[in-house]
Amino acid sequence: MLKTKMALDVEKIRKDFPILKVKVNGKPLVYLDNAATSQKPKQVIDSVTDFYENYNANIHRSIHKLGEQATAAYENAREKAADFINADSGEIVFTKGTTESLNLVAYSLSNELKENDEIVLTQMEHHSNLVPWQQIAKKKKAKVRFAEIDSKGELKTDQFNELINKRTKIVSVVHASNVLGTINDVGKIGKIAREKSDACFIVDAAQSAPHMKVDVKKMNCDFLAFSGHKMLAPTGIGVLYGKKDLLERMQPFLYGGHMIKEVTFNDSKWNDIPWKFEAGTASIAQAIGLGAAIDYLKMAGMEKIAQHENELAEYAMEKLSEIKEVEIYGPSAGKRVGVVSFNVKGVHAHDTSAILDSEGIAVRAGHHCAMPLHSVLGITASARASFYLYNTKEEADKLIQGIRKVIKVFK
Ligand SMILES: Cc1ncc(COP(=O)(O)O)c(C=O)c1O
Repeated sequence: MLKTKMALDVEKIRKDFPILKVKVNGKPLVYLDNAATSQKPKQVIDSVTDFYENYNANIHRSIHKLGEQATAAYENAREKAADFINADSGEIVFTKGTTESLNLVAYSLSNELKENDEIVLTQMEHHSNLVPWQQIAKKKKAKVRFAEIDSKGELKTDQFNELINKRTKIVSVVHASNVLGTINDVGKIGKIAREKSDACFIVDAAQSAPHMKVDVKKMNCDFLAFSGHKMLAPTGIGVLYGKKDLLERMQPFLYGGHMIKEVTFNDSKWNDIPWKFEAGTASIAQAIGLGAAIDYLKMAGMEKIAQHENELAEYAMEKLSEIKEVEIYGPSAGKRVGVVSFNVKGVHAHDTSAILDSEGIAVRAGHHCAMPLHSVLGITASARASFYLYNTKEEADKLIQGIRKVIKVFK
């Protein structure tokens, strides 16, 4: 692997992740299922423990010391999330995760959709950026159109010129595919969307925000969604970024406590953004954990993380391509995040995964919540190795050895 001045100190990073000392089936854990969820460093775990041990209270309501401390920590996490993607804190809505963020946008924007309006997605969407639009389109008699992928697993970006027109009201695309790893040129897609329509431009950053620098101003997107648990934070916390004027205009998704300014028996007035979209008791500890995760990622450096994962993906793909029984999906390493999906020809991905598990290697197998994409690829399932900042070249080697064992067992 190419070592540059920019390289991460992976050995030091690994010491921060207690779970990496765990043995699985008597073997050291090789955790390559980061696209599903990442592991958590001690700094994040400690931040959550500190909250529960020292200042646990509900936020935005209790006029006592703990309540004030908890509120400040929660809002501080919002500031960190805003800074992480170059947004203002008023544009950051905390949700449960990417799925809830995308459902919130879809539900709220659906109020403005009419019959024959069009929604443009891609063939490589995760179900969470496909099913909500599909269901809303059915209800509103709108049409969903899909940009295709080519034989290398790259998006046919120029197709957006034909797909987007004056009837297009929504363009929603994944930044990095959770199956192919492909990094899409969202800047270009957004530009086409603005030239050809007055559509809302939405980016699913679940697989990009944890792994590379994401800048909503540079992207010029209207909305962007990501999940904390895929970027070192706890589960149950996610972000929806939305441009201020759009958040102001949109109807709330959930109704209840805290999202209101005033309630009478007959009517209600909504709170200011972003709180208008945060009904009920928030995921307080989880948001604080997200703040600690962002601190950690920034300390490591997003550029270094991207470079490290790219080197690991390139190395793994090079070794995998030397095995004639293995089929790899998606583009070359420079055009993808550290996600490598593959199949051992004639072996079901679940069997591949089970053999790898016997060696302590965790990968995901299945359709990865992207069934339509798998049908385009002509397969029903794939195995997926996905790297993060704490993975090493030695772990990639173990993956390759594990795959050789799969071939030995099944061939
Ligand atoms: C590209 C993509 N979008 C959306 C999601 C949904 O994220 P969550 O399950 O955290 O809501 C995922 C999760 O794997 C994903 O990979």
